[in-house]
This record gives sequence, C-alpha cells and structure tokens, in this order.
Amino acid sequence: MDTPHYWGVIPAAGQGTRMGAQRPKQYLELAGRRVLEHTLERLAADPRIAGIVVALGPDDAEWRHLTMPAGVEVWTVTGGAERCHSVLNALESLDGRAAPTDWVLVHDAARPCLRPADLSRLLDVLAGDPVGGLLALPVRDTMKRAGAGDRIDATVDRDGLWHALTPQMFRLQALREALDKAIAADVLVTDEAAAMEWAGHRPRLVAGAGDNLKITRPEDLPLAEYYLARQLRD
Ligand code: C5P
Repeated sequence: MDTPHYWGVIPAAGQGTRMGAQRPKQYLELAGRRVLEHTLERLAADPRIAGIVVALGPDDAEWRHLTMPAGVEVWTVTGGAERCHSVLNALESLDGRAAPTDWVLVHDAARPCLRPADLSRLLDVLAGDPVGGLLALPVRDTMKRAGAGDRIDATVDRDGLWHALTPQMFRLQALREALDKAIAADVLVTDEAAAMEWAGHRPRLVAGAGDNLKITRPEDLPLAEYYLARQLRD
C-alpha cells in the first residue's frame, strides 16, 4: 500500500452568533490578519499536509479577500446546515484526489493558535493507529452537572475527562461512513470523534497545548492575540 496522504479540512460555514459581531468569527481581525488566515497557515505548517479544503457558508463574501498559505493547494466547497454536513461536503470533494485510507485532519476555522509542534506530534503519534484521534486537554476545573434553576444536581468526577480540541484526524472513508450513518440516524454529532465513537470506534486522545483555544466569545480575541505573540517569542 502506498504511504497515505494527509488532507486538511476546515469547516468555516458557521455564523458564530455567540460573538455578537457583524461578521462571522473566522473573519474577525486578529493580529493584523483575519482569524481564518492564521488558521490556514497553522494547518499548512506541516509539509505532510497535501491540500486543504474549506467549507464556506453559501453567502460568504469574505473568503476571496484572504491571502492563502504558500506551498499547499487550498480549495472550497459550500457548507451545510450543521458542522457535520459541512465536513461531509468537504470530504466528498476529496473524491478523485485522495485514497480511502488517506488521513483527514478536521480543524476548526476559529482555532488560529494551533501550535505547529502539536500538529506534527498528532501526525506522528497517530501514523500507525487503526482509528485515529484528536488533540485534547485534560479538564482542570471541578465539573458540575446542573439541574433545574441552575442548581447543581451532581459533581462529575473530572478524572478521565478531557476537552476535545482540533485537529481531529481520521481515515477518509471511515470518517465519511461514520458521518453518513450519524446523519442518517438523526444523531447530532458536534465533532468528528463523536461520529466515530457512535460508529463503534475508540479514537485516541493526544494531549495538546491549552492555548489552542476556539474563538467563541468577544474576550477570546485579545487572548488569542496574546497567545500568538507569546508563541512567536517561545
Ligand atoms: O459554532 P462552533 O464554534 O461550534 O463551530 C465549529 C466550527 O464548525 C466552526 O469553524 C464553524 O464555522 C463550523 N461550522 C460549519 N458549518 C456549520 C456550522 C459550523 O462549517 N453549519
């Protein structure tokens, strides 16, 4: 069997309503560039990434203004109603370019602080893995489950609890089948690992840096800017 290739997939078709901004969060300005420009560059940082497909909203008017990362082919597809539909559309566009056993790395458009070292380690650690996995971060805070009226029903044991980050790396065909099945069964999966779990697989958690934050709320932008500046100094 030929050595598998690695493909990047960036779902960027969301509106990011929690930001309360005029434009989707992937197009907000961060350290003099758009969030998505940083994200693309970070995902392209490993030379093993053969190409990147980006799922855009149907009315996207901003993409054409972005500067593309050097040295990697980038193309777009139209996203769908939920993240899982956007990812599936992107995977379909790999037909004819990718082999069924090639790896795909799905990375949130709003995670511009991915460390190149974490990306490379994810590829290295999972290279021989039968399933694949994702960057993740052990939970530090004590976790509470809320009941009615925001009152605590229970304290959840944080031992073994992780935050799921991205990239999430799976084999093209296996991920496509898992997403297809989850959508057909009307199971709403909020990340690719959940689709794989639902299909009976056990993705591997690979510990990543905590500064790989997802820009979600307005206060995340200055934090991301600080992280980017600090990473350049490290
Ligand atoms: O809203 P949230 O931050 O969870 O979205 C995660 C990622 O999925 C974002 O990059 C967003 O643009 C993308 N997304 C998408 N298609 C949708 C909804 C979200 O590509 N229909």
